[in-house]
Amino acid sequence: ADKMHLKLTINGEQFETLCEPRELLIHVLRERFNITGPHIGCETSHCGACTVDLDGKSVKACTLFAAQAQGATITTVEGLASPEGMHVLQEMFREHHGLQCGYCTPGMITRAWRLLQENPDPTEEEVRFGMAGNLCRCTGYQNIIKAILAAAAIMNGRDAAADDA
Ligand code: FES
Ligand code: FES
Repeated sequence: ADKMHLKLTINGEQFETLCEPRELLIHVLRERFNITGPHIGCETSHCGACTVDLDGKSVKACTLFAAQAQGATITTVEGLASPEGMHVLQEMFREHHGLQCGYCTPGMITRAWRLLQENPDPTEEEVRFGMAGNLCRCTGYQNIIKAILAAAAIMNGRDAAADDA
């Protein structure tokens, strides 16, 4: 098949490759660009382990062909930390034990990052609804929700501990 010249901006850097248009975005990210934060869980759009941010939306990278991502601006979990340190979501996942095996975590955090831009101060129910596309096989949902609410509290200038009480 004819290869396409794919150009993407990922975590602020330009990436280019020749690939087949039918290659899945998750495979391009992981195998061609060595961006392995987004994981492959189900490869059938159920689990959310492959979640990336694409042009301002949470997208399951196993549901998109490379051709559909042409020219896109993508953020993965690798792009969330800054030179000053981890993103507050990453800090709160650590503090509240929002991960067990960690397989779902890059997708969870990348989705939560977009959720808190869509809805900067969500209720617990809104977090649960907003995260519904991401599954955790270790079923650590309570702490994932806690971590996201704690991050939201900090981002809104409240003391996360006080919010907990
Ligand atoms: Fe993409 Fe599960 S690997 S949704
Ligand atoms: Fe293991 Fe979520 S922490 S799948």
